[in-house]
Amino acid sequence: MKDKPVKEFITPISGKKVLIGAGTPEEQLIFALESSCDETACAIVKNGREVIANTVSTQIKTHELYGGVVPEVAAREHLNSIVPVIEKTFSDAKISPQEITAFAATVGPGLIGSLLVGLNAAKTLAITWDKPFIGINHLNSHVCANYIDSTLEPPFIALLVSGGHTQIIKVDNYTKQTIIGETIDDSAGEAYDKVARLLGLPYPGGATLDKLAPQGNKKAFVFPDAKVGQYEFSFSGLKTAVLRTVQNIKSENKELPIADIAASFQERITKTLFKKTYNALQEFGYKKVVLAGGVAANSEIRKKFFELEKEGYEVHAPAMKYCTDNAAMIGAAAYYLCNTFDSLDVEVFSRVAK
Ligand code: KG4
Ligand code: ZN
Repeated sequence: MKDKPVKEFITPISGKKVLIGAGTPEEQLIFALESSCDETACAIVKNGREVIANTVSTQIKTHELYGGVVPEVAAREHLNSIVPVIEKTFSDAKISPQEITAFAATVGPGLIGSLLVGLNAAKTLAITWDKPFIGINHLNSHVCANYIDSTLEPPFIALLVSGGHTQIIKVDNYTKQTIIGETIDDSAGEAYDKVARLLGLPYPGGATLDKLAPQGNKKAFVFPDAKVGQYEFSFSGLKTAVLRTVQNIKSENKELPIADIAASFQERITKTLFKKTYNALQEFGYKKVVLAGGVAANSEIRKKFFELEKEGYEVHAPAMKYCTDNAAMIGAAAYYLCNTFDSLDVEVFSRVAK
């Protein structure tokens, strides 16, 4: 067995040693919490790949009123949901806390007030049941969502496209993810959400725009590709180009061809994401590529990347429910020990330090 990580953890009360990770022969049940943004999520994951129970309580309806996530409101909603979500997960799994190997939670990046709810709940459970606590970086966990129900093994190149981030990541082994390029302004998800808003679609607009685009002509408008570094992204110019197009059409009192604009925008963003990731595959000589994050649920982006299978590449993307925020991916990241924070003293963080 090559490259199977294992690490010794100490339980918080009795100081007992517990080995965690794919390198141990014992069955491991990781209980995981995720509350970095507007989803209160909980999961129990067996050996990093098998989801025993998965609960996601979304706040979308609340934030829809404001057209975006309001941090203070999000934190309060997490407080209301966290206990019912935990209870439902244990009850669905028919597993008791004593049977859990370790308790994990997202540490950051994310909204501070929201993160604190999940992190403190996981720490409390770890102390109460005297089991190890494992803190997880949300971005690393999106990539690890690809291990769920899959036989994927590193090395591979990952394209992480979420509401907050857009990165190309080199994954050399389970514990090491190296960012080789990222956006210098908006993330792909932000671009989707902002353009959807310009077209009058409800928040968060990514999925709605995705459904609308196939009804439009993707050649109707030619939107610009940003001139940035080889593995860098910039989507703010694209967003402005869509805004100008919308303003021009409106100023002529013409009906807005929203499906055509959606299709043309999606065509641009898909081509840019694909081109840069493909270049990375070629430069580093990798034959496996994975998609991760909420925007990885996009039908056009998935289609474009899966076409690489014809060229002999192995292509992976999480099931739709594991693309957007969930806790199963936290359970997978904890098992594969991907960049973990092991101390109960760990503090939440809103951004990754550069
Ligand atoms: O990963 P995620 O759930 O949250 C963050 O960690 O940021 O990503 C949320 C983002 C939102 O911007 C949402 O509009 C976008 O993912 N999204 C999509 C689709 N489904 C969700 N964007 C494009 N097409 C989709 N089908
Ligand atoms: Zn996320």
